[in-house]
Amino acid sequence: MTNTTFRMRVLGIMAVSALTALASADALPLDDTRADESDLAAFREARFGMFIHWGLYSQLGGRWKGEKMTYIGEWIQSRSQIPNVEYAKLAKDFNPVKFNADEWVRQAKDAGMEYLVFTTKHHDGFSMYATKVSDYNIVDATPFKRDVFGELVAACRRHGLKVGLYYSQNLDWHEFDAADPRVNVSGGRTALANNGMSWGNSWDWPDDSKKDFDRYLKEKVYPQLKELLTNYGEIFVIWFDCPIGMTVKQSQDLKNYVRSIQPHVLVSGRIGNGFGDFDTPGDNQLLAGKSSALLECPITLNDTWGFKYDDHNWKSAYRVACDLTATISGNANLLLNVGPRPDGRFPDASSDVMHELSAWRKRTGIRIKGATGSPFAQEMPWGWCTVADGNVLQFVVRSDWTDDLEIYGIRNKIIACTAAYETNADRLKVHLPKPDDAMPRVVLVTLDGVPDVDGRLVPQQGELVLLPSASCRVVQGRGEGLWARRGPDREGLPDYGPWGAD
Ligand code: GLC
Repeated sequence: MTNTTFRMRVLGIMAVSALTALASADALPLDDTRADESDLAAFREARFGMFIHWGLYSQLGGRWKGEKMTYIGEWIQSRSQIPNVEYAKLAKDFNPVKFNADEWVRQAKDAGMEYLVFTTKHHDGFSMYATKVSDYNIVDATPFKRDVFGELVAACRRHGLKVGLYYSQNLDWHEFDAADPRVNVSGGRTALANNGMSWGNSWDWPDDSKKDFDRYLKEKVYPQLKELLTNYGEIFVIWFDCPIGMTVKQSQDLKNYVRSIQPHVLVSGRIGNGFGDFDTPGDNQLLAGKSSALLECPITLNDTWGFKYDDHNWKSAYRVACDLTATISGNANLLLNVGPRPDGRFPDASSDVMHELSAWRKRTGIRIKGATGSPFAQEMPWGWCTVADGNVLQFVVRSDWTDDLEIYGIRNKIIACTAAYETNADRLKVHLPKPDDAMPRVVLVTLDGVPDVDGRLVPQQGELVLLPSASCRVVQGRGEGLWARRGPDREGLPDYGPWGAD
């Protein structure tokens, strides 16, 4: 054996033991977990993704023993305190024969989405992919026997979408050792501290004194993440969730571990303790103003993530188009949820939104991928502005605005505009097309170069819109994350605040 081959072997052995050590609870964390700039740029460029919550809970659709649940559908096991032996029986009837990965991915792509984030394991602990770590999974425990995540990955590759996965790293109601952060405000411990529910599985295991959370991490989380990161090709993001109670070391080790397998994977802020590559405001919290931090806003289409038969409070395509544009104009990404039905189809109302977004994109030519935030210092009273291709201003105008647009402060030469317009010094006047009640109007203005816009607070439409501080709360996360968030805009949805802020 030459010296070089010997050295390579030794290095190989060291690398393997380093990985094993990382997986063990007392490993020394590496101190640099920052992502490559190019990976962060790819995330920023993607702009719009589809969140998919699908699992055994979808089978129940928010109803248990004739009762309609309140709260989000994927929490039904905790809400109704369903014992694991009973909940596991749902798997026997889980047979979504109408599931068609290409159809889901095509709808997402047509709507302008660039990535998918699929629930590979939610809080109920059931794996929606082919895992050897636990037989509580869609392939081994259901008559369907198909690796739905694998099929989605293949469809994403066919249609050019990036693949993300949601993985509940902390809560797992199927595992005794998983977390049960039963904290209450006074710092004591109580069984019911989360909207009247337990965070962990306190109904099967009221005594959690023998819990060993690191054992759960070592025996389920690490091996499953290894499968997910080695068997499905390149993973764009891992969406961790609910890190309540995780220590700095647990979050950091986990981050290092996933990066050691896939150096380019990005993780959500809900890995805990500030180790996210991007942050998420609370669920259904939209951005107020602009963000310099990398941010993704997860929103529902009705009031639940997992499918519910009785939730008909659907957002319109119009509202989603406005929310999407507002989010991009603030420099953030939007992750829009679909909760597929137990038979594998998207709810009609969700598909309708996707189709309307698709038609709107085609009709107006608006660009989502790669679009960047508004170059203007102030809010626009009529809607939002984003920038495509570096030199196209995209004005998205609400239906209730009937005047012409009068925009001040553009110093560039206007090369083209999709509506009739006049210019006078730094004023651009756009004669708006008639309001289309169904969707917001779009005006595309091509400039002679990158926007050169007066950075001062120039009044627009004769007024200067600044956000009143009383309308929002500014919170500071660890790292650069700074965002303002409104209170929950819909009843019953949780408001988590900044993960790992302290
Ligand atoms: C919350 C919920 C979880 C859901 C997630 C989506 O953390 O606990 O059920 O998946 O929000 O953002």
